[in-house]
Amino acid sequence: MSILIKNVKVVGSPGISEKDKLSVLIENGIIAEIAKSVSAKAKESIDGEGLFLIPGLVDLHAHFREPGFENKETVETGAHAALHGGYVACMTMPNTNPPCDNASVVQNILEKASKIPFYLFPCGTISKQREGKELAEMAELKRAGCRAVSDDGDYVEDALLTRHAMEYVSMLDLLYISHAEDRALSRNGVMNEGKVSTRLGLRGIPNMAEAVAVARDLTLAEFTGARLHIAHVSTREAVSLIRAAKRKGVKVTAEVTPHHLIFTDEALTAYDTNFKVNPPLRQEEDIKSLREGLLDGTIDCIATDHAPHREEEKDLDFEEAPFGTTGLETAFSAVLTELYHKRKALSLADIVRLMSRRPAELLGAAEFGLIKKGIEANVALVDLAKEWTVKKDYFQSRSKNSCFIGQNLKGQVVLTISKGKVWKFV
Ligand code: DOR
Ligand code: ZN
Repeated sequence: MSILIKNVKVVGSPGISEKDKLSVLIENGIIAEIAKSVSAKAKESIDGEGLFLIPGLVDLHAHFREPGFENKETVETGAHAALHGGYVACMTMPNTNPPCDNASVVQNILEKASKIPFYLFPCGTISKQREGKELAEMAELKRAGCRAVSDDGDYVEDALLTRHAMEYVSMLDLLYISHAEDRALSRNGVMNEGKVSTRLGLRGIPNMAEAVAVARDLTLAEFTGARLHIAHVSTREAVSLIRAAKRKGVKVTAEVTPHHLIFTDEALTAYDTNFKVNPPLRQEEDIKSLREGLLDGTIDCIATDHAPHREEEKDLDFEEAPFGTTGLETAFSAVLTELYHKRKALSLADIVRLMSRRPAELLGAAEFGLIKKGIEANVALVDLAKEWTVKKDYFQSRSKNSCFIGQNLKGQVVLTISKGKVWKFV
């Protein structure tokens, strides 16, 4: 099976100029040639005129809901959503039922994923049952294929348990992913604490709930030497704490989601539950800090926190509805619209670094995040100029709870090639 992409500009390929129009030949799933012209005949030919070929995106934070919540998303529907959005690899969070706290759940997920031309990295839990009481068998999780652990959705409250978890993580060279939220401070909150929550009469989650949790985990990471990754950073205070810790040499990395980079708590004015996410959407000052953090390297990457939920659940009263927005199918377009087109803050090469190369490095999966002769073809073909409106019927995900519905975006993934297979959903 051979594919020839012609007249395409290539970004994210060492030594290749982004200005040249090139031909890229893929043979048996491998990038066989990148050149001004390729004489070989291919079975499938794709015209890349006006388009860019970039490394397939890599997401460190997605919820595929299997096992246990297959009515929201499965490994298969999650992978299709990912491929639709230009992703070739995702780390899936362990807040499933049963949670991913032992080898058999990991193996089960990997077995399902092996049937799809896509890369899935299951994240194990930190504690058994995600209860925050007893440590999961991390060595077993690692042997089964986990590269990271997290109790995502929950913060590990017990500082001593966290210390022990980080000691193991350090010994086993895993990544400790923290959902940094002090529950005593955020308890019962449903949105950001501030003027808007007062106006709407909704209980707030203050910035300090994140800041306190981040500060503790940074302290423990410094003492234990663990590699700590702060998930979905949302506050200016967390950005400053992480920046200072990095300067001190703490092994910390961080991610931010497109929704936290784009929307403020004002988006909740109509009580639209698709904007109910955890951590909550914050304020303009926070967005400003998050963007500065991305530009100066304090925040390493953009992750989706793709969190599918059923329509019936999202239709509940604001206070009752679950937290979460889907993200895999809009992340690239949303980042491009806001930070490339509108603000001119990031180049396409920056976006490739933040959404592909750097997350791949943090996963320890150096085979992703670049385009090079001789490696497997895991790439996305993108149209930077395509203007479109996000509609419910666009999604491959089993759930449609996207906070981007109705938004006009500029830029779209045309197709994704994963393990050498072409995925085009239109
Ligand atoms: O908004 C969120 N949804 N934040 C989380 O931390 C968990 C996630 C979920 O699992 O739905
Ligand atoms: Zn989380």
